[in-house]
Amino acid sequence: MTFNIVCMSGDGIGPEIIAEAKRVLNKVAEKYGHSITYKNILIGGASIDVYGEPLTDEAIEIAKTSDAVLLGSIGGNAAISPWYRIAPELRPEAGLLKLRKSLNLFANLRSAYLYEELQEACPLRENVISDGFDMVIVRELTGGLYFGERSTKEMNGMITATDTLSYNEKEIRRIAVKGFETAMKRKKKVTSVDKVNVLDSSRLWRKVVEEVAMDYPEVTLEHMIVDNCAMQLIKNPKQFDVILTENMFGDILSDEASMITGSIGMLPSASLNDTKFGVYEPSGGSAPDIAGKGIANPIATILSAAMMLRYSFGLEKESKAVEAAVKQILKEGYRTVDIMPQDKSRCRFLKQVGTEDMGRSITEYI
Ligand code: IPM
Ligand code: MG
Repeated sequence: MTFNIVCMSGDGIGPEIIAEAKRVLNKVAEKYGHSITYKNILIGGASIDVYGEPLTDEAIEIAKTSDAVLLGSIGGNAAISPWYRIAPELRPEAGLLKLRKSLNLFANLRSAYLYEELQEACPLRENVISDGFDMVIVRELTGGLYFGERSTKEMNGMITATDTLSYNEKEIRRIAVKGFETAMKRKKKVTSVDKVNVLDSSRLWRKVVEEVAMDYPEVTLEHMIVDNCAMQLIKNPKQFDVILTENMFGDILSDEASMITGSIGMLPSASLNDTKFGVYEPSGGSAPDIAGKGIANPIATILSAAMMLRYSFGLEKESKAVEAAVKQILKEGYRTVDIMPQDKSRCRFLKQVGTEDMGRSITEYI
């Protein structure tokens, strides 16, 4: 098969980690007899520098004609970067939001899985994580606070800023369906996270999720209030299978979930719409402090490429081969600096490698 991939490397460590994901994809293509073409498109600060905006309409049109987008990361250090001295709607993050909205990518799947080999990198106590954990956060991505009306204006002599959090039934229903469908392929448990004790949007969320649940009698549905969920992730992460939640809660909880896997550099994500198309990106940010040093962990991006093979191209065998290669090199002791254990006595058995060596080692196992 032939696949057209749009690569948006973006900023910071983006180009370094995308190069490794491409290396892996090329090996998959070679081994399994597929052909891949790539088109590079600017996003974030890289696009601001050239076009004065973080994502052009032309870029979106090109993305629409592709089979999938592989995205690195966007943004820089807000304290020093000129990208943050321009209007908010022209800053790097706005490019990402424009991409999500214009491609209708309402479903964001972020998995948090604790590799046995990385238990020492997990900040939780051993008795909490002894059997590991394996969850997926299904985050609504095109509604809620991120896309509600907002303004900053002077009212009665006082500057007042407003953001609005709004969801309609349709938006909740379609993400709930994704959540239950995801659970059907896993351990068949959905934890729907809301703030029903305070927010109207959460009351509607809960009602619609319960309606959708009727179509999935095999799936156990549980509701959890978001502050409790933040606590439960630390207290007992293995209770979760699928966490289904709205945009802002999902943003916050997915960072928390990633940290307990050992490093945000391990977490892949897929942003999907109703078609097979998707945008695949690591859950972590652009890490400007380590950009260009060749030490960033490319695994989240490589695993995102594996998600692309599975969800957009329907290549389950190839996807599993990539995931198995990642597991294998972890077993053999290869570690980027972010997943080296703090306890240095264990380091003798481990090999600290940079971005490129990590990518090459994974590629060799495919
Ligand atoms: C994420 C990021 C984005 C978000 C930022 C960069 C706008 O944190 O993908 O989680 O808040 O969604
Ligand atoms: Mg985030």
